[in-house]
Amino acid sequence: MGLYSIVHYADMILALLLPVFGLTAAAAVGPRSVVPRGSSAARTAVVAFGTTAILRLLCTLALGWFGWVFLASRLPAAGGCAVVCVVLLAGWVRPVPRASAPTGAHEVPGWRSPVAAVWATTAVAFITSYAQLVSPDLAGIVTVTAVVTLIAEVLWWWRLRAPGRRGTVVRVVAVAAAIGIGISVAAQASTLPPELAVTGHSGHQPGSAGSPGSPGSLGAVDVAALTGTRPDPSAVVHHFTLTAQPATIPLSSGQQVSAWTFNGTIPGPELRVTQGDLVEVTLHNELPDAGVTVHWHGVDVPNAMDGVAGVTQDAVPPGGTFVYRFVAAQAGTYWYHSHQQSSEQVRRGLYGAFIVTPRDQPQPDAGTVQPVDDAILRHRWGSEEGVTTLGLDAGLQARQVDPGRPVRLRLINAETDPATFTLTGTTVRVAAIDGTDIHQPADLPGTRILLGGGSRADLIFTMPTTPVVLRAGTVGIVYSPDGRADTHTVAVPAQFDPATYGTLTATTVPTGGAPDRHYTLRIDERLRFYDGRFVVGYTLNDALYPDTPVLQVTAGDLVDLTIINRSGLDHPMHLHGHHALVLQRDGRPTTGSPWWVDTLNVAPGQTYRIRFRADNPGIWMEHCHNLEHAADGMTLHLAYTGVTTTFHTGGITANQPE
Ligand code: C2O
Ligand code: CU
Repeated sequence: MGLYSIVHYADMILALLLPVFGLTAAAAVGPRSVVPRGSSAARTAVVAFGTTAILRLLCTLALGWFGWVFLASRLPAAGGCAVVCVVLLAGWVRPVPRASAPTGAHEVPGWRSPVAAVWATTAVAFITSYAQLVSPDLAGIVTVTAVVTLIAEVLWWWRLRAPGRRGTVVRVVAVAAAIGIGISVAAQASTLPPELAVTGHSGHQPGSAGSPGSPGSLGAVDVAALTGTRPDPSAVVHHFTLTAQPATIPLSSGQQVSAWTFNGTIPGPELRVTQGDLVEVTLHNELPDAGVTVHWHGVDVPNAMDGVAGVTQDAVPPGGTFVYRFVAAQAGTYWYHSHQQSSEQVRRGLYGAFIVTPRDQPQPDAGTVQPVDDAILRHRWGSEEGVTTLGLDAGLQARQVDPGRPVRLRLINAETDPATFTLTGTTVRVAAIDGTDIHQPADLPGTRILLGGGSRADLIFTMPTTPVVLRAGTVGIVYSPDGRADTHTVAVPAQFDPATYGTLTATTVPTGGAPDRHYTLRIDERLRFYDGRFVVGYTLNDALYPDTPVLQVTAGDLVDLTIINRSGLDHPMHLHGHHALVLQRDGRPTTGSPWWVDTLNVAPGQTYRIRFRADNPGIWMEHCHNLEHAADGMTLHLAYTGVTTTFHTGGITANQPE
């Protein structure tokens, strides 16, 4: 939990307090009645003030809530506080006729007009939404200023009833202190990751974006032409056919789901090839009414093969066909899924495992024990309360494995929310993350590993004589010599931390020194209208797609990306076409094996710095793999200088990547 999250939650609380600020403002600007202490007039005045206060509180509460929900988001409540501050200050500097108050008089705050509170709150709501657009940091400053001012005001009422010049001095000092504290807290928050920048900057200039003679002019390459280098003619060629078609699928829970499938099965067929093979996949679309594509999640394919509707190709219409062709250069655990309306199509079932086994892996000959190699895809059917499955099975499955057999479990979180997988009952190693091997993985006495949406991890162990239990929430698999689903109760294993696991080794990108470009992405949580809907938008540098910034790079650049999550949810940030090395988490360098990711789960309050080499020209997606978030605009592009696309997304085209 960094200071960012504290600010985030403070904002939410302040949003709820908004009406109270409005109320205070209204009270502060009202005339004050001066009545003899202890008189019945004083009691009446206090009671009248009290009841009006309650009524107005309810009234402004309703109005403030309305204004907040419809006009503002959480953070901007702080912006509203700025206005309240001004009003409060106005109330303060307004001369109160104290001189005429008899000795021992009781001063009762009064109200201006009945509509004052209403206007104050409405104004707050409007200016609030405006302040959000101007600057969240400014909003942060006024948040704290407002809180301290409010406290000062309360203190003033109940303690510091100092008249005259002394009172003025106290007020001025209080306000100055409040502003000072506000600025310093907000400044601290903004400098938490020292490199906080709203937009990226470029370290070197050759043909940077928008300069004449780069994209759009002579020499520009269209993404459709980026099909990769000619494969070695001796490469083994694998032909696969994926047909997108509707099917009714029975889950182990007994439930029938009407799914969209590849080849009638869920998950789609497991595509398994050897490293270096040429993969040729023919996609047919037999869906009744929707376009479809195939994206090779985590495989750094040539851009034209990336399968993103509206960016690298047009969605394949019903009856249409598209051929994907690429060399499976990297061994590892990947998956494929439709990238046309992906939030909906993956949910309905258009996904499967894509496994590349290492080229130099010795083929086990007959007679030696055959390894178990299982790709396990987690998926949820329907809404948040829907059925979660591993493969098609809800609940606990059983699998018979003879003792002594080597086992590799390829865990794939094909779901939007992060999942914690626990493996108990054996010594285990985390062999790979996102398809990349861990260097010298240590033996763990069981493990608990968090996989963000779209992430993968390979666990390896040798089957013992007793059961091994894999669990992810309500679903799981028991591996046992007798094939029974007997579980065991053991202590919950320690949380796996990829930042410290394994040992350091040389990497293909330098881990030290300055990059050529450094971009910062700040994730916030805002209520917004998006695409005609009212959404909780997870903004990237205050914007939702298509207003999000473009990460512009030149081929060969060393690129750093700092990702700061100031929202209250996990965001599995997925970069297409590249693997990135995690350099730092929360400012601390990673110390274990090089940790390469294509999908990095960024938890609330976390900051990551990752680095990659821009070595795969094209226009690529970088988006949250909580696909609902992506559909609500949490997506942007990484674009290479000199690459253009003729494909379009949006309302009037059939292409809707998310
Ligand atoms: Cu797995 Cu852009 O997606
Ligand atoms: Cu997200």
